[in-house]
Amino acid sequence: MTKITAAITAIGGYLPEYRLTNKELETMVDTNNEWIMSRTGIEERRVLKGEGKGTSDLAAPAIEELLQKRGINPEEIDLIICCTVTPDLVFPATANIISDKIGAKNAFGFDLNAACSGFLYGLATGSKFIESGQYKKVIIVGADKMSSIVDYEDRTTCIIFGDGAAAVLLEPNEEGLGIQDSILRSDGSGRIHLHQKAGGSVKPPSHETINQKEHYIYQEGQAVFKFAVTNMADVSAEIMEKNKLTAEDVAWLVPHQANKRIIDATAKRMGVSDDKVMLNISKYGNTTNGTIPLCLWEWENQLKKGDNIILSAFGGGFTWGSIYLKWAYDTNK
Ligand code: UT7
Repeated sequence: MTKITAAITAIGGYLPEYRLTNKELETMVDTNNEWIMSRTGIEERRVLKGEGKGTSDLAAPAIEELLQKRGINPEEIDLIICCTVTPDLVFPATANIISDKIGAKNAFGFDLNAACSGFLYGLATGSKFIESGQYKKVIIVGADKMSSIVDYEDRTTCIIFGDGAAAVLLEPNEEGLGIQDSILRSDGSGRIHLHQKAGGSVKPPSHETINQKEHYIYQEGQAVFKFAVTNMADVSAEIMEKNKLTAEDVAWLVPHQANKRIIDATAKRMGVSDDKVMLNISKYGNTTNGTIPLCLWEWENQLKKGDNIILSAFGGGFTWGSIYLKWAYDTNK
């Protein structure tokens, strides 16, 4: 029997229109373009404006674009995994809301929270549903409205995050293309350095939690940086070694876009040259679950069937990991 692998067969993305520039941030907090550029590489980020709009409003148009590109209708989707840290509601899952909005009547769905590594965890999880042979069309969407948990008076975090979403379709492949391997890790002791203090079951929302601004992102930047730089580089080198890939074999590195310095360190450790590294942090900042699929979406035209691609991420939890995949199609847009 031919082995079934899970391959990405289409991508869609969505970015809200509003651009929050470094110049505008200079009017909001004590910061400057030069500091932001040299420490993070970010020039601007997108913000979803409008009353009553949430993460599903980023994810739904991304999936709709994907369906249109692939020429399939929403009722053909079997499963939607929504990777997010900013769900529309605490419950039900944003995946269910997305299904309703796009008319995916036959799909089941759930949310997956692994912070900035969420898309990788989602891709690995979704691939198993395809490899089992039980499902034929699985959507993994990475979507976050980070502006809903950013304190725009905190200069250490508000300069980093942005809103955005992108989705991939996984389908069975019998040519050995698609997801080849994954290494996923987590260390819960790292949670103290990056989390949202209130709003969960430990500290339900109250007037006090609002007054203390505990519904916003709390990040100890330097501590996270230290772990991110080491772990993202290590796991990327490990997946190359495990799969006997040299730097020449790797066509693209698709890193989580948190900080250009972390990305540079990862590429250096892998021995991969800059021209093989997807980098769009300057335009969108850190969109958490959106970063990796947004890169694939933007670079889709340049990807060739058979390309060896390494996806790597590090994020809150701590969570981190790498996925090795072989690109499954040539695009002629
Ligand atoms: O995606 C999830 C995982 N997250 C990450 O991977 C983020 C990892 N961390 C980072 O990317 C970096 O730590 C940051 C970009 C968050 C911060 O950069 P840093 O080089 O670690 O700066 P720092 O926190 O050490 O701050 C250096 C100085 C401080 O001033 P003093 O104490 O030296 O006087 C800060 O108060 O820069 C100051 N500072 C700022 N100055 C201007 C902090 N934020 C700003 C700002 N503008 N926005």
